[in-house]
Amino acid sequence: MNEQEIHEHLMTRTLKLARKGFVKIAPSPFRGALLAQADKIVGEGYLANRDAVDGEIHALKAAGEKAKGATLYVNLEPAYGTSKGINLVDKLIEAGVAKIVVALRDPNPNVSGKTLEALQQAGVEIVEGIMAAEASQLNEIYLTEVSTRRPFVHLLTAMSLDGKIATRLQDSDGITGPESRDYVQHLRSRYDAVMIGVNTILQDNPMLNCKALRGCDPWRIVMDTEAKTPLNSKIFLRSDPNEPRPPVLIVIGYGAHEDRLRSLRLAGAEIIQCPDEASEDPRVDLTRLLPILYKRGITSVLIEGGATLRGSALDAGIVDKLSFLIAPKLIGGAGATSAIGGDGVGFVHDAWPIKRMECRPLGVDLLIEGYLK
Ligand SMILES: NC(=O)c1ccc[n+]([C@@H]2O[C@H](COP(=O)([O-])OP(=O)(O)OC[C@H]3O[C@@H](n4cnc5c(N)ncnc54)[C@H](OP(=O)(O)O)[C@@H]3O)[C@@H](O)[C@H]2O)c1
Repeated sequence: MNEQEIHEHLMTRTLKLARKGFVKIAPSPFRGALLAQADKIVGEGYLANRDAVDGEIHALKAAGEKAKGATLYVNLEPAYGTSKGINLVDKLIEAGVAKIVVALRDPNPNVSGKTLEALQQAGVEIVEGIMAAEASQLNEIYLTEVSTRRPFVHLLTAMSLDGKIATRLQDSDGITGPESRDYVQHLRSRYDAVMIGVNTILQDNPMLNCKALRGCDPWRIVMDTEAKTPLNSKIFLRSDPNEPRPPVLIVIGYGAHEDRLRSLRLAGAEIIQCPDEASEDPRVDLTRLLPILYKRGITSVLIEGGATLRGSALDAGIVDKLSFLIAPKLIGGAGATSAIGGDGVGFVHDAWPIKRMECRPLGVDLLIEGYLK
């Protein structure tokens, strides 16, 4: 293997280590660290949860004396300054690390090249940009929220091959198979919040939980202009009776009665009023809502539907990523609900182009994912 191949081989392993953090680190980024002497791994680590010490410290401990003269591989620039009582730059210099191979600089203004500069000034050689695309995808939520100061928005749709999410009788149960349903649980566990329109509550009454994977449920956000969400909706239920009540946000426009709002608060909801003031349409202003959610610490939102909300989100231009689960079934019917409502585009040449599209089978279904930004 030449030097570039060794870097790519060891960065692939570093990304694998980083992924082990899975959901317990959110909203912190995935961080893997690996120390090597030439192509021999001498220490490994990753950020295991948001309160744990950084992976670099685990890698240094595992390597011991072998850290001297070693190369450190990290998917993201290490933290700057003192955190959890540890100054990572000092520790790396003390251990005698000779080179750092990093996939990406951390765009967080508190870091943004400062760690790399400090290490370079101490004589550590820096190699940047190894497998940067893969590292960006792994931390797409963190990189977006930290550089745009708004949540990363992911639009999810489960539909038939002819693009229907419910029949003409509004039946939407079990369009996709068990593997797709597991995938939805997995996705929910990665996101701070799940968002739906009030009609989905009225028609399907989903619970929107994912306790099994994450250990806690995501925020449940309902777009509900007139606060019509029923007080006995399943979104108010706990996955585990010993857990505190799951956080529910009802986002209203104008026109909700104060008594109604009081009852919803008693049922466990927080209310946000965010009307679209520029429009005749009394609905919620999604663009204005995102920074409000971000201020509450919500760094990522999974929009699960229905068609009207999906259409509004696309029309508003707030969507970063899309996932379509497509079942090998035809539902048909002009009156059956299509996956995406809203205004859409008037001309094909204005259609939203999907970037970096990928496709893979999930049981009998097909998963197609891509990006709008
Ligand atoms: N297969 C799937 O992936 C999937 C997932 C979810 C739902 N569904 C199906 O989708 C159907 C429901 O979809 P739907 O299109 O009727 O309704 P929806 O998208 O669930 O809810 C739309 C409602 O949300 C409220 N809202 C407030 N602000 C909004 C905004 N900015 N943008 C959009 N909506 C806003 C509006 O209520 P007001 O009219 O009160 O203002 C609007 O009518 C059901 O049949 C359900 O089974 C399928």
